[in-house]
Amino acid sequence: MKILVVGGGGREHTLVWKLASSPLVDKVFAAPGNAGMAESGECVDIKVDHLTRLADFAERKSVDLTVVGPEVPLALGIVDEFEKRGLKILGPTKSAAEIEGSKVFAKQFMKKHHIPTASFKIFDKPEEASDFVRASEMPLVIKADGLAAGKGAIIVEDTRSALSTIQKIMVDRIFGGAGSRVVVEDFLVGEELTVLAFTDGKTIFPMLSSQDHKKIFDGDRGPNTGGMGAYAPATVADDKTMTRIFDEVLEPTVAGLEREGRTFKGILYAGLILTEMGPKVMEFNCRFGDPETQVILPLLKTDLVEIFLSIIDGELSLQDVEWADNFAVCVVLASAGYPGKYEKDKEISGLRKARQTEDVVVFHAGTRRQKDRVFTNGGRVLGVTATDKSMDGAIQKAYSAVKKIEFEGMQYRKDIGHKATGVKKRLL
Ligand code: GLY
Repeated sequence: MKILVVGGGGREHTLVWKLASSPLVDKVFAAPGNAGMAESGECVDIKVDHLTRLADFAERKSVDLTVVGPEVPLALGIVDEFEKRGLKILGPTKSAAEIEGSKVFAKQFMKKHHIPTASFKIFDKPEEASDFVRASEMPLVIKADGLAAGKGAIIVEDTRSALSTIQKIMVDRIFGGAGSRVVVEDFLVGEELTVLAFTDGKTIFPMLSSQDHKKIFDGDRGPNTGGMGAYAPATVADDKTMTRIFDEVLEPTVAGLEREGRTFKGILYAGLILTEMGPKVMEFNCRFGDPETQVILPLLKTDLVEIFLSIIDGELSLQDVEWADNFAVCVVLASAGYPGKYEKDKEISGLRKARQTEDVVVFHAGTRRQKDRVFTNGGRVLGVTATDKSMDGAIQKAYSAVKKIEFEGMQYRKDIGHKATGVKKRLL
């Protein structure tokens, strides 16, 4: 089979790596890909939002299956475009992808289907949103309705920052049209947890739970990032919690979307807070998480191509999904300045040595190759993932590989996975 993976980050490198290991696969293309994907596949210079060019490429190369990493092409309707042409593609249609593409839709949907989430109000006029926050207790979360590259949900601690956030989103339009409406919701207190699920719109297979590390600095301090690391499975979610998440969140969401004529096929991402009252949904995404994918797929024993094909054919109920009884940890190496303005074009050394560490895979995110040298080309540069029988072992292996890699200004968190083990001491 020929496979096309759409995207160019660490999540997509993980998908390429996993799919290329399937005996069913002869060739993997990645659009636009990165230096890491170029090692197990062929990179194609097409941007993720050029839907017709991607579909033309899939037709021309007789691609058997396309897998979409990021949310933007899904929200734009890449699945509708491919299906119209009779091309196989894994992901939700544009109308099902609205569960991520519109925060207003997602909140109204959850309310209608009794899916636990924070109380909220929706505003399309900045004056009304401002009046509401003036009369509310803090903290609150203010969310731009549309897609905002993961930056559209802002926690505000006091009235002044709430008012200035409303001004920036709704009046200054820092996220463009995504800010024409906002959701203002209560701030949920508890551990964050990600639960991804395979679904064909009827059957649901939750994947192993995982925890992202959103803040730039150790101890969850500093500004938010796209994710500085992850581990799986997340020990904060016991079997009882996972059963509640299935019964109270995943099942009613998939069934509700089906009833509304928005059948969801693909990967459903539930971003949850484990509150004192039980799990509540902070956000839904319509695709794999990044960097959660980097720790989940290395633990998947079943052939991912078989799972994807059974989702597309609506036959997921006939499929087995098996997981290794191991732990995985991913440490993200980022450029100096990230998550603000960051440096690029720094040569990376030690990649080969790091890869030779037992049970370690180095996934590329923002990299580019020039002959046989690799340079930084993004904020998040690499995701060093290790697996082991124990969480401590996975942490040790990941950091021992990290120590072999160098580039100017490299920054990373030293405490990835420690929440799972209670490890407080610094490893390095
Ligand atoms: N890890 C957060 C996300 O993928 O949206």
